Amino acid sequence: MLKKIFTGLLVLLALPVIAALAAYVYYWRPALAPINPPAATAFSPQVVERGRILAGMGNCAACHTAKDGAQFAGGHGLATPFGTIYATNITPDPQTGIGRWSLAAFQRAMREGVGRDGAHLFPVFPYTHFTLVSEADLTALYAYFMTRPPVYAAASANSVPFPLNLRPLQAGWKLLYFKPASFQLDPAQGLDWNRGRYLAEGLAHCAACHTPRNALGAELAGSPYLGASIDHWYAPALTSANTAPLPWTHDELYAFLRTGATALHGVAAGPMSAVVHEGMGASPDSDVRALATYFAGVSGAGSETARKVDVGAVVKAGIDRSQRVSLVDNDRGASLYVAACASCHSNSNGQPVALRPELSLNSAVSAPDPANLIQVILHGINRDEAMRGVLMPGFAQSLTDNDVAQLAAYLRRSRSHQPAWTNLEAAVARARATPGAGKQ
Ligand code: HEC
Ligand code: HEC
Ligand code: HEC
Repeated sequence: MLKKIFTGLLVLLALPVIAALAAYVYYWRPALAPINPPAATAFSPQVVERGRILAGMGNCAACHTAKDGAQFAGGHGLATPFGTIYATNITPDPQTGIGRWSLAAFQRAMREGVGRDGAHLFPVFPYTHFTLVSEADLTALYAYFMTRPPVYAAASANSVPFPLNLRPLQAGWKLLYFKPASFQLDPAQGLDWNRGRYLAEGLAHCAACHTPRNALGAELAGSPYLGASIDHWYAPALTSANTAPLPWTHDELYAFLRTGATALHGVAAGPMSAVVHEGMGASPDSDVRALATYFAGVSGAGSETARKVDVGAVVKAGIDRSQRVSLVDNDRGASLYVAACASCHSNSNGQPVALRPELSLNSAVSAPDPANLIQVILHGINRDEAMRGVLMPGFAQSLTDNDVAQLAAYLRRSRSHQPAWTNLEAAVARARATPGAGKQ
């Protein structure tokens, strides 16, 4: 009997080891031969230019450029629940960058998350999305990166603890959560929608920030775009679960993604600002419209409920509410609002404009997580973010944690129909301890 239990236990213990070994063997990849760095003249300028625009859509610079560092030379740390992982140097430096990578090695990294030496890469590098990028687009990206100025910059050491730092273990992760794939056109949908989906699910990897992840860091397959915390910000749901008072329609999405602001929702601050400006800023209008078309489908903008919303009435009710509550409510949050915010945020003429975000319509005020509102109150929005050339001052110096918490609670109570946030003061303290987190 004892022996049986013992063997049973042994088998049970051996199973994960066998599975890991099997995954390792299944996903074993050889090193690919180094090449002599190709001359910049080996690439056609048109293809390089296409690569530049694609690199923007892929937001490569946001992760691969350290604060004040040389472009694409790596060294930007990404905080994950498993430790900090540094993006590597993807300039064509032969020693520390990808100068000796062939096109095949580059494509394999993007499609399968495998380095030139055959090592498995961590999925914080969004290869799970890049796997959908077409061969022609990968070729253009390669041409662009191989013609950047090479920068000598050795990789920073990751702080992922043993044994999670073991690269072969990533094979087990891949077995669970990853299959190389290619983009499939949906013939039931138009070209514009398909183009938007190709960009969103692939190169632009919108889900990497907007989809919640499981304990092992994989995007939850059943919850695409349901909203997630990212780097002390909150990337809201892009589905009908979005809590903004007005639905995200095609026009609102287009304005937001093209300019970084809309009068009916608010602005793209924090990490989303880089996505809009440094990211798709160089992309043609047709691509930005295609993304709007795709996400109008995801958000259910065409649904019956969305169509029934009377925009004018919601706007009027919101503005009325903002005015009324400021006058009668005499709590500390309200007086702080009147003293510090109202001069810029009051839409007393009845028309919301992007320059004075109407807080009763604003996503940061109605989101399930207070992170964005707290970030914006503490650190403000600088001229390069959100609406370009426009700024909101930060209040980290003049307001205490308790002030910010009271102000946020007041805005939530007076300008949204959502339940109160809890533990606000602790959230403010955390955000203060990481100034500018997420501002890349
Ligand atoms: C969300 C952050 C993020 C974005 C966006 C991103 N990368 Fe990376 N990338 C990383 C990280 C982190 C690594 C290192 C992974 C590791 O060490 O396992 C990496 C590794 C790589 C590698 C492998 C390099 C090597 O030395 O092993 C290549 C090639 C690469 N990225 C290219 C790109 C390109 C091209 C883009 C834009 C289309 C891009 N990356 C966008 C985070 C990112
Ligand atoms: C690096 C992380 C990141 C990526 C990648 C990203 N987003 Fe975002 N997104 C955010 C954050 C954070 C916010 C909240 C910004 C704020 O409050 O100002 C946001 C806000 C938004 C909003 C406004 C939602 C609301 O209710 O206010 C839309 C729409 C949006 N993103 C669409 C996209 C699309 C489309 C893509 C892909 C092209 C994308 N995002 C890629 C992080 C990201
Ligand atoms: C000097 C004018 C000014 C003051 C004072 C000011 N704001 Fe703003 N606020 C702005 C502008 C302008 C924007 C849009 C910034 C941009 O797009 O770059 C903005 C944006 C916002 C947003 C939108 C963030 C998003 O992600 O959509 C919120 C929320 C906000 N402010 C709250 C506040 C609060 C709370 C206060 C008081 C503590 C305040 N503001 C004080 C001018 C101001």
